[in-house]
Amino acid sequence: MTASYEVRGAIAVITMNNPPVNGLGYATRCAIAEGVDRANADAAVKAIVITGAGRAFSGGADIREFGSPKAIAEPNLLSLILQLEASAKPVVAALHSVVMGGGLELSLGCHYRVAAPGAQIALPEVKIGLVPGAGGTQRLPRVLGVETALNMIVSGEPVKSEVLAAIPGQKLIDKLVDGDALAGALAFAAEVADKRPLPRVRDLKAKHANADGYFAFARNTVKAMAKNFPAPAKCVDCVEAAVKMKFDDGMRFERDTFMALMLTPESKALRHAFLGERAASKIPDVPEDTPQRKVEKVAIIGAGTMGGGISMNFLNAGIPVTILEMKQEALDRGVGVMRKNYEAQVKKGKLKQDKYEQRMGLLKTTLSYEDIKDADMVIEAVFEEMGVKEKVFKTLDEVMKPGAILASNTSTLDLNKIAAFTKRPQDVIGTHFFSPANVMKLLEVVRGEKTAKDVLATVMALGKKIKKTAVVSGVCDGFIGNRMIEQYSRQAGFLLDEGATPQQVDKAIEKFGFAMGPFRMGDLAGNDIGWAIRKRRAVEHPDMKYSKTADLLCEMGRYGQKTQAGWYDYQAGKRDAIPSKVVTDMIEKHRASLGITPRKISDDEIVQRLVYALVNEGARILEEGIASKASDIDMIYLTGYGFPLWRGGPMCYADTVGLFNVVHAMKRFAQNPRDDQAFWQPAPLLAKLAAEGKSFS
Ligand code: NAI
Repeated sequence: MTASYEVRGAIAVITMNNPPVNGLGYATRCAIAEGVDRANADAAVKAIVITGAGRAFSGGADIREFGSPKAIAEPNLLSLILQLEASAKPVVAALHSVVMGGGLELSLGCHYRVAAPGAQIALPEVKIGLVPGAGGTQRLPRVLGVETALNMIVSGEPVKSEVLAAIPGQKLIDKLVDGDALAGALAFAAEVADKRPLPRVRDLKAKHANADGYFAFARNTVKAMAKNFPAPAKCVDCVEAAVKMKFDDGMRFERDTFMALMLTPESKALRHAFLGERAASKIPDVPEDTPQRKVEKVAIIGAGTMGGGISMNFLNAGIPVTILEMKQEALDRGVGVMRKNYEAQVKKGKLKQDKYEQRMGLLKTTLSYEDIKDADMVIEAVFEEMGVKEKVFKTLDEVMKPGAILASNTSTLDLNKIAAFTKRPQDVIGTHFFSPANVMKLLEVVRGEKTAKDVLATVMALGKKIKKTAVVSGVCDGFIGNRMIEQYSRQAGFLLDEGATPQQVDKAIEKFGFAMGPFRMGDLAGNDIGWAIRKRRAVEHPDMKYSKTADLLCEMGRYGQKTQAGWYDYQAGKRDAIPSKVVTDMIEKHRASLGITPRKISDDEIVQRLVYALVNEGARILEEGIASKASDIDMIYLTGYGFPLWRGGPMCYADTVGLFNVVHAMKRFAQNPRDDQAFWQPAPLLAKLAAEGKSFS
């Protein structure tokens, strides 16, 4: 049973029991409805208490039912709430721990609410591009006042029960009890058992002294903040309806708004990302109950750009770190940078001084492997050279205790080779952090041929602990993210050859929603990195074509921001990218040498060529099993590459456009004499799905 029923004295207790957060799935809704009927039919019962077992009252809709017919099967949430509201016997909700979304809406259909302190109360629907759909926008303003309710609905952020209970005149929480919510609710129910009439939230009024002025102001503010997302402005409309319409009309308005938002690509994208984040932690052949190794002490090799940032993640999570370097100066420099980063956070008020000291207190530094041999996990972040990695891993193999996890932060090297430097390849794994590692959400977890399942499970769980979005990638050149971005960069180069300028390309893709276009990105990361990769490629894949412009740029010493000159010019101490005459001249000269007459390229073509380059490589990656599902690729692009969230990632976006249309466009590009014909050969998986009218999801 997903909700139990028992009678204690004259009170019926309905306890939702659908772990982990008592989601209001079909079976749970049925069980609650049955309980309410049963209590009403039992003459010995005078009142009803509804609560949740375990760690939540209720977290709302059951995400496992998302989009399935079960989600709306009767009794749907709206009907269930009406049933509670219409109950002839008083219904008291006992709120504790988590009261969110449909869970909060359900409680608003009850006659009374008793809450324990510390309960997290929220209507988070806006975060998946929706408005609350079971009366939340109509009932919450009636109990909390218009402004508090709208703030909660539009932000989706939780507010603690004691904070809400302290709002003068609020009617959300009838009683804040010390300790156990259920015990408090039982006592409360006994008190009100005979009281009539039963209070209903729908009978209250949502009022605002200056409604027109307030909603105009709210709408402007929200629109400016929400930019590409329609749902926040719709939250304002719904709360305004709560003030200006009759209750039932407001409910219909909320319903229509909810249904319309449900169909928007933005909401689809947000739901995709929400589910994708959860799905990423599920690995097809690694069961969820796979035992994990304990990771209580971590060692990091290398205190450079990545080593320092990686260390901070663990310190922030309360896990002690020892950093090992070759020279004391390198340690001092690395620790200095970490201190600077923390101090900047303290200055901005984002970190308390004592927390900062606590974190740094967990850090040790050393020049000797002797001091790290007891670590449960070691992450190597030394120079990106196989020879250096070989030395480090051979040493680790000798000194580390048995069972220690040996991770490499390599971004391009073959993890299987690195694992083979040890006699314990099953303990070796890739943890590919992104720069700056203390900020970027993405962690590509690279699964080697021999990586043990428990090592993989441990690192995925650890990823969550240090608040990363961990996504598994198989071993291939560039792993998932960089392998795809290379194709995107190649297209960006071809666009220059054909007539576009760096600023036109950047502007077009930034308008599409990327945080930064490929050329500004190159200047930030350093154009010399790509140069080195292309030199290596020229040996390994001599047939791979690139535009020469990027090499010519590097030959001019224009590495990017660090040399104050790249695709753009930069002024000392500033990051503004200024279009460069020298670069335009270089590109034009190069074009002329190829005999190309430049043509005007539309922004649409630029966006399609860049994005479909990602999609096509993504399809190959899926086909090869490097990624186990399309949503993993999307999570990588959303969290590590600045792909616009409201478009859901490259694969989700391709699904929205329609794979048939994607392939059609690719065929058109293949006819372009300047473009690389082989480039636009649709990946077999993409071609197949498009032909069958299917999608990646
Ligand atoms: P870095 O050059 O800033 O730092 C490397 C550090 O390792 C230096 O402080 C150096 O003294 C130390 N080191 C070198 N050999 C060592 C040894 N044998 N024992 C102990 N320490 C040693 O390099 P960065 O950028 O931090 O990169 C480190 C690794 O992370 C590389 O594998 C790189 O490909 C990878 N990576 C880098 C990213 C970036 O954006 N910088 C992003 C993702 C991965």
